[in-house]
Amino acid sequence: MTPIDWLWILHPLLMVVIAYPLLGIVLYLARRTRLRRLGRSRLPVSSGAEHTDLGRGLAVAVVAITLLALVVVISTKGPLAQFAGGPGRLALLALVAVGTALALASLLRVRAAALRAVFALLTWVGMLGLGSQPEVWRLSDDPLSPGFWQSHYWGGAGLIGLLLFSVAARPEIQRSLRWRRLHLSANVLAALLFVTQAATGTRDLLEIPLSWQKPTIYACDPVGQTCPPLAPPSAPPADAPAPSTPAPAT
Ligand code: HEM
Ligand code: HEM
Repeated sequence: MTPIDWLWILHPLLMVVIAYPLLGIVLYLARRTRLRRLGRSRLPVSSGAEHTDLGRGLAVAVVAITLLALVVVISTKGPLAQFAGGPGRLALLALVAVGTALALASLLRVRAAALRAVFALLTWVGMLGLGSQPEVWRLSDDPLSPGFWQSHYWGGAGLIGLLLFSVAARPEIQRSLRWRRLHLSANVLAALLFVTQAATGTRDLLEIPLSWQKPTIYACDPVGQTCPPLAPPSAPPADAPAPSTPAPAT
């Protein structure tokens, strides 16, 4: 493993260590919140508030750890000195990454409904903008092809949209039954997407080679599932010492 390989491991590692355990607690508290609303009043009143706080934490963690993946994927495609599009494009993309993080931080602070909607949208658009770069691997961008529905990128884009919607609509979900129902259906889908992201993410881990193996593996044809024959080991230079031959047995 080279330092670049460790950078690539950071995103799956943090998802497994931070986001998924948090998801477990958020789901547990979601069930308690619902049961309490349905009249099981022996459950603690704090369930709703705890679900909301940890739900926010979950959304922030997923967005931040995904932003990290996008930054790593884009900046390690090749040597930074030869970045496609030059330093101008690199600086612009860095600006979008910082802007996305700032939009997320602002979403957590603002109160007015319009501002919440604007910052949630800005965060999502920032993620989509970075994700649409050619450096980011996406199985397919065509919703009519099966590859689109198996894509780790597009699953992530949908999930992040749903989580940002929950964060932005928090006061409405607390206040109104209609919004709560909408939240519930949106997040049943989000919970399913968490499962498919785990499946497509671990599949990608199997498929992505270590950095030193990339030149060889990427020469393979993924459709025909064949690889070019390996070059024979290069002949030793003429002045190299002859390989020692074992002394003949006497
Ligand atoms: C996978 C993720 C999530 C699931 C499955 C989920 C599910 C639920 C469920 C079942 C309820 C109770 C609805 C009812 O009483 O009828 C609820 C309430 C709520 N959720 Fe979520 N949720 C998720 C994530 C989030 C996130 C990210 C937020 C963002 C802050 C959030 C904010 C809220 C709020 C504000 C309420 C109302 C709490 C109350 O009644 O006091 N949820 N959620
Ligand atoms: C909620 C969960 C997750 C979301 C929203 C998410 C989202 C993303 C996005 C948008 C990318 C960049 C596009 C791409 O290279 O495909 C990415 C990359 C990647 N993800 Fe995830 N992901 C999640 C969970 C996971 C999990 C659980 C794993 C594996 C255990 C994983 C493994 C990977 C790998 C290997 C990459 C390639 C680049 C890298 O490692 O930085 N992801 N993810």
